[in-house]
Amino acid sequence: MALILLFLLSLVISNIKCQNFGRFFNNFDRISDSKQLLDHYDFIVIGAGSGGSVVANRLSENSNWTVLLLEAGWDENFFTDVPLMATLQTITAYNWGYRGEKIKTACLGAVEGRCNLARGKALGGTSVINFLIYSRGNRHDFDEWESLGNPGWGYKDILPFFIKSENCRECKEIDRRYHGFDGPLSIEHPGYESPMAKSFIKAGIDMGYKNVDLNAYNETGFSKVQSTMRHGTRCSASKAFLKPVKNRPNLFISTQSQVTKILIDPKTKTAHGVEFRKKNIKYIVRARKEIILSAGTFNSPQLLMLSGIGPKEHLEELNIPVVQDLKVGFNLQDHTALSTLAFLVNESITISDISVQNPWDVFNYIWSGKGPLHYLVVPKL
Ligand SMILES: Cc1cc2nc3c(=O)[nH]c(=O)nc-3n(C[C@H](O)[C@H](O)[C@H](O)COP(=O)(O)OP(=O)(O)OC[C@H]3O[C@@H](n4cnc5c(N)ncnc54)[C@H](O)[C@@H]3O)c2cc1C
Ligand SMILES: *[C@@H]1O[C@H](CO)[C@@H](O)[C@H](O)[C@H]1NC(C)=O
Ligand SMILES: *[C@@H]1O[C@H](CO)[C@@H](O)[C@H](O)[C@H]1NC(C)=O
Ligand SMILES: *[C@@H]1O[C@H](CO)[C@@H](O)[C@H](O)[C@H]1NC(C)=O
Repeated sequence: MALILLFLLSLVISNIKCQNFGRFFNNFDRISDSKQLLDHYDFIVIGAGSGGSVVANRLSENSNWTVLLLEAGWDENFFTDVPLMATLQTITAYNWGYRGEKIKTACLGAVEGRCNLARGKALGGTSVINFLIYSRGNRHDFDEWESLGNPGWGYKDILPFFIKSENCRECKEIDRRYHGFDGPLSIEHPGYESPMAKSFIKAGIDMGYKNVDLNAYNETGFSKVQSTMRHGTRCSASKAFLKPVKNRPNLFISTQSQVTKILIDPKTKTAHGVEFRKKNIKYIVRARKEIILSAGTFNSPQLLMLSGIGPKEHLEELNIPVVQDLKVGFNLQDHTALSTLAFLVNESITISDISVQNPWDVFNYIWSGKGPLHYLVVPKL
């Protein structure tokens, strides 16, 4: 019932100018495709996900550079904005819909024994379908990257950028030294909390852990979730980093544009252009300076292989001319999630299906950005 209601509302809302309906509706500021395509750009960014959105934003700060951002998916909609609906996005066209091969060590209970490997396909990428949890990497991982010969990637170098990008003005239980308050990425605690949240943290303290800020010095402990939300709705990478700069004359955004090949000069091994398809038409554009590949965990290696960079035997099997024999795609790591741990609690202290289907909750969500609809649910995969 509530789903149908939301769907109808989404149709209505996406067809009217709703800036005057209050701050909630400001999110519906849509991004339209750049009118014309040029032959050359200084930079071409492939994929407008969590990474690509930021890169396109920062590069186009320099008005002397032209930047083309190519994205296979399209803009977000009303539906993708509702945090509670996150799990449902995986059955829509906002997910590439990949499935793993059958393996002996995981996903034995899944259909055909194959894991679902969700990946977002939209301006904003996987941040349009993910669970909105704002959780930075562990400091030791960044320090390890640095120690492998990557100066500038240690935790001390990265932290100022986390702080710069963040707007945590609405946050309460945080260590303010580790947070930013003027950046484009909005972080909030979910505005609706069932009594379970308090009990959960108390249980952690009873076991000898601390109630910590999971994004400060030490994340070992129990914490309320910090989420990438703005006024109770999803703050995707596109909302944070593309919408504010979509009118820059040197930034060109093209959606429904799937890159099929990076053009590489086999002699100099320099990438100089890309080939992509948009509505069944093939285009070629060239880059004067750089091509940034940010097409996500699965598609970045795929595109490298289609462009001749990958394991030789595999590329030859598919008649792809080898530019560089490399073990591309060999270090994929994933964590599956399962939802089989079930326990019974009193209905009054959780959100049940019934409360979510209450039209009043739907109205309350739209009007005030409050109530159970922007609750974060445990994924059911
Ligand atoms: C179900 C799920 C829940 C998650 N929950 C969380 C969470 O709560 N918190 C958290 O921090 N992380 C979460 N993550 C992980 C997080 O969302 C990703 O790590 C992050 O978004 C990846 O960013 P990215 O830029 O590497 O790739 P993506 O965001 O996936 O962006 C890649 C973009 O490239 C586009 N693209 C791909 N191929 C092409 C092509 N050939 N041509 C043009 N465009 C192309 C894609 O359509 C996509 O838009 C979750 C992930 C999943 C799947
Ligand atoms: C842009 O180019 C002009 C003229 O070459 C130069 O003066 C200016 O500093 C450049 N701007 C940036 C941000 O690099
Ligand atoms: C982080 O906190 C945990 C639990 O309080 C503690 O055991 C651990 O030593 C701390 N780590 C650091 C690096 O301080
Ligand atoms: C559940 O409700 C019953 C009846 O109101 C009460 O006795 C019990 O303590 C509650 N349990 C929890 C875990 O809150």
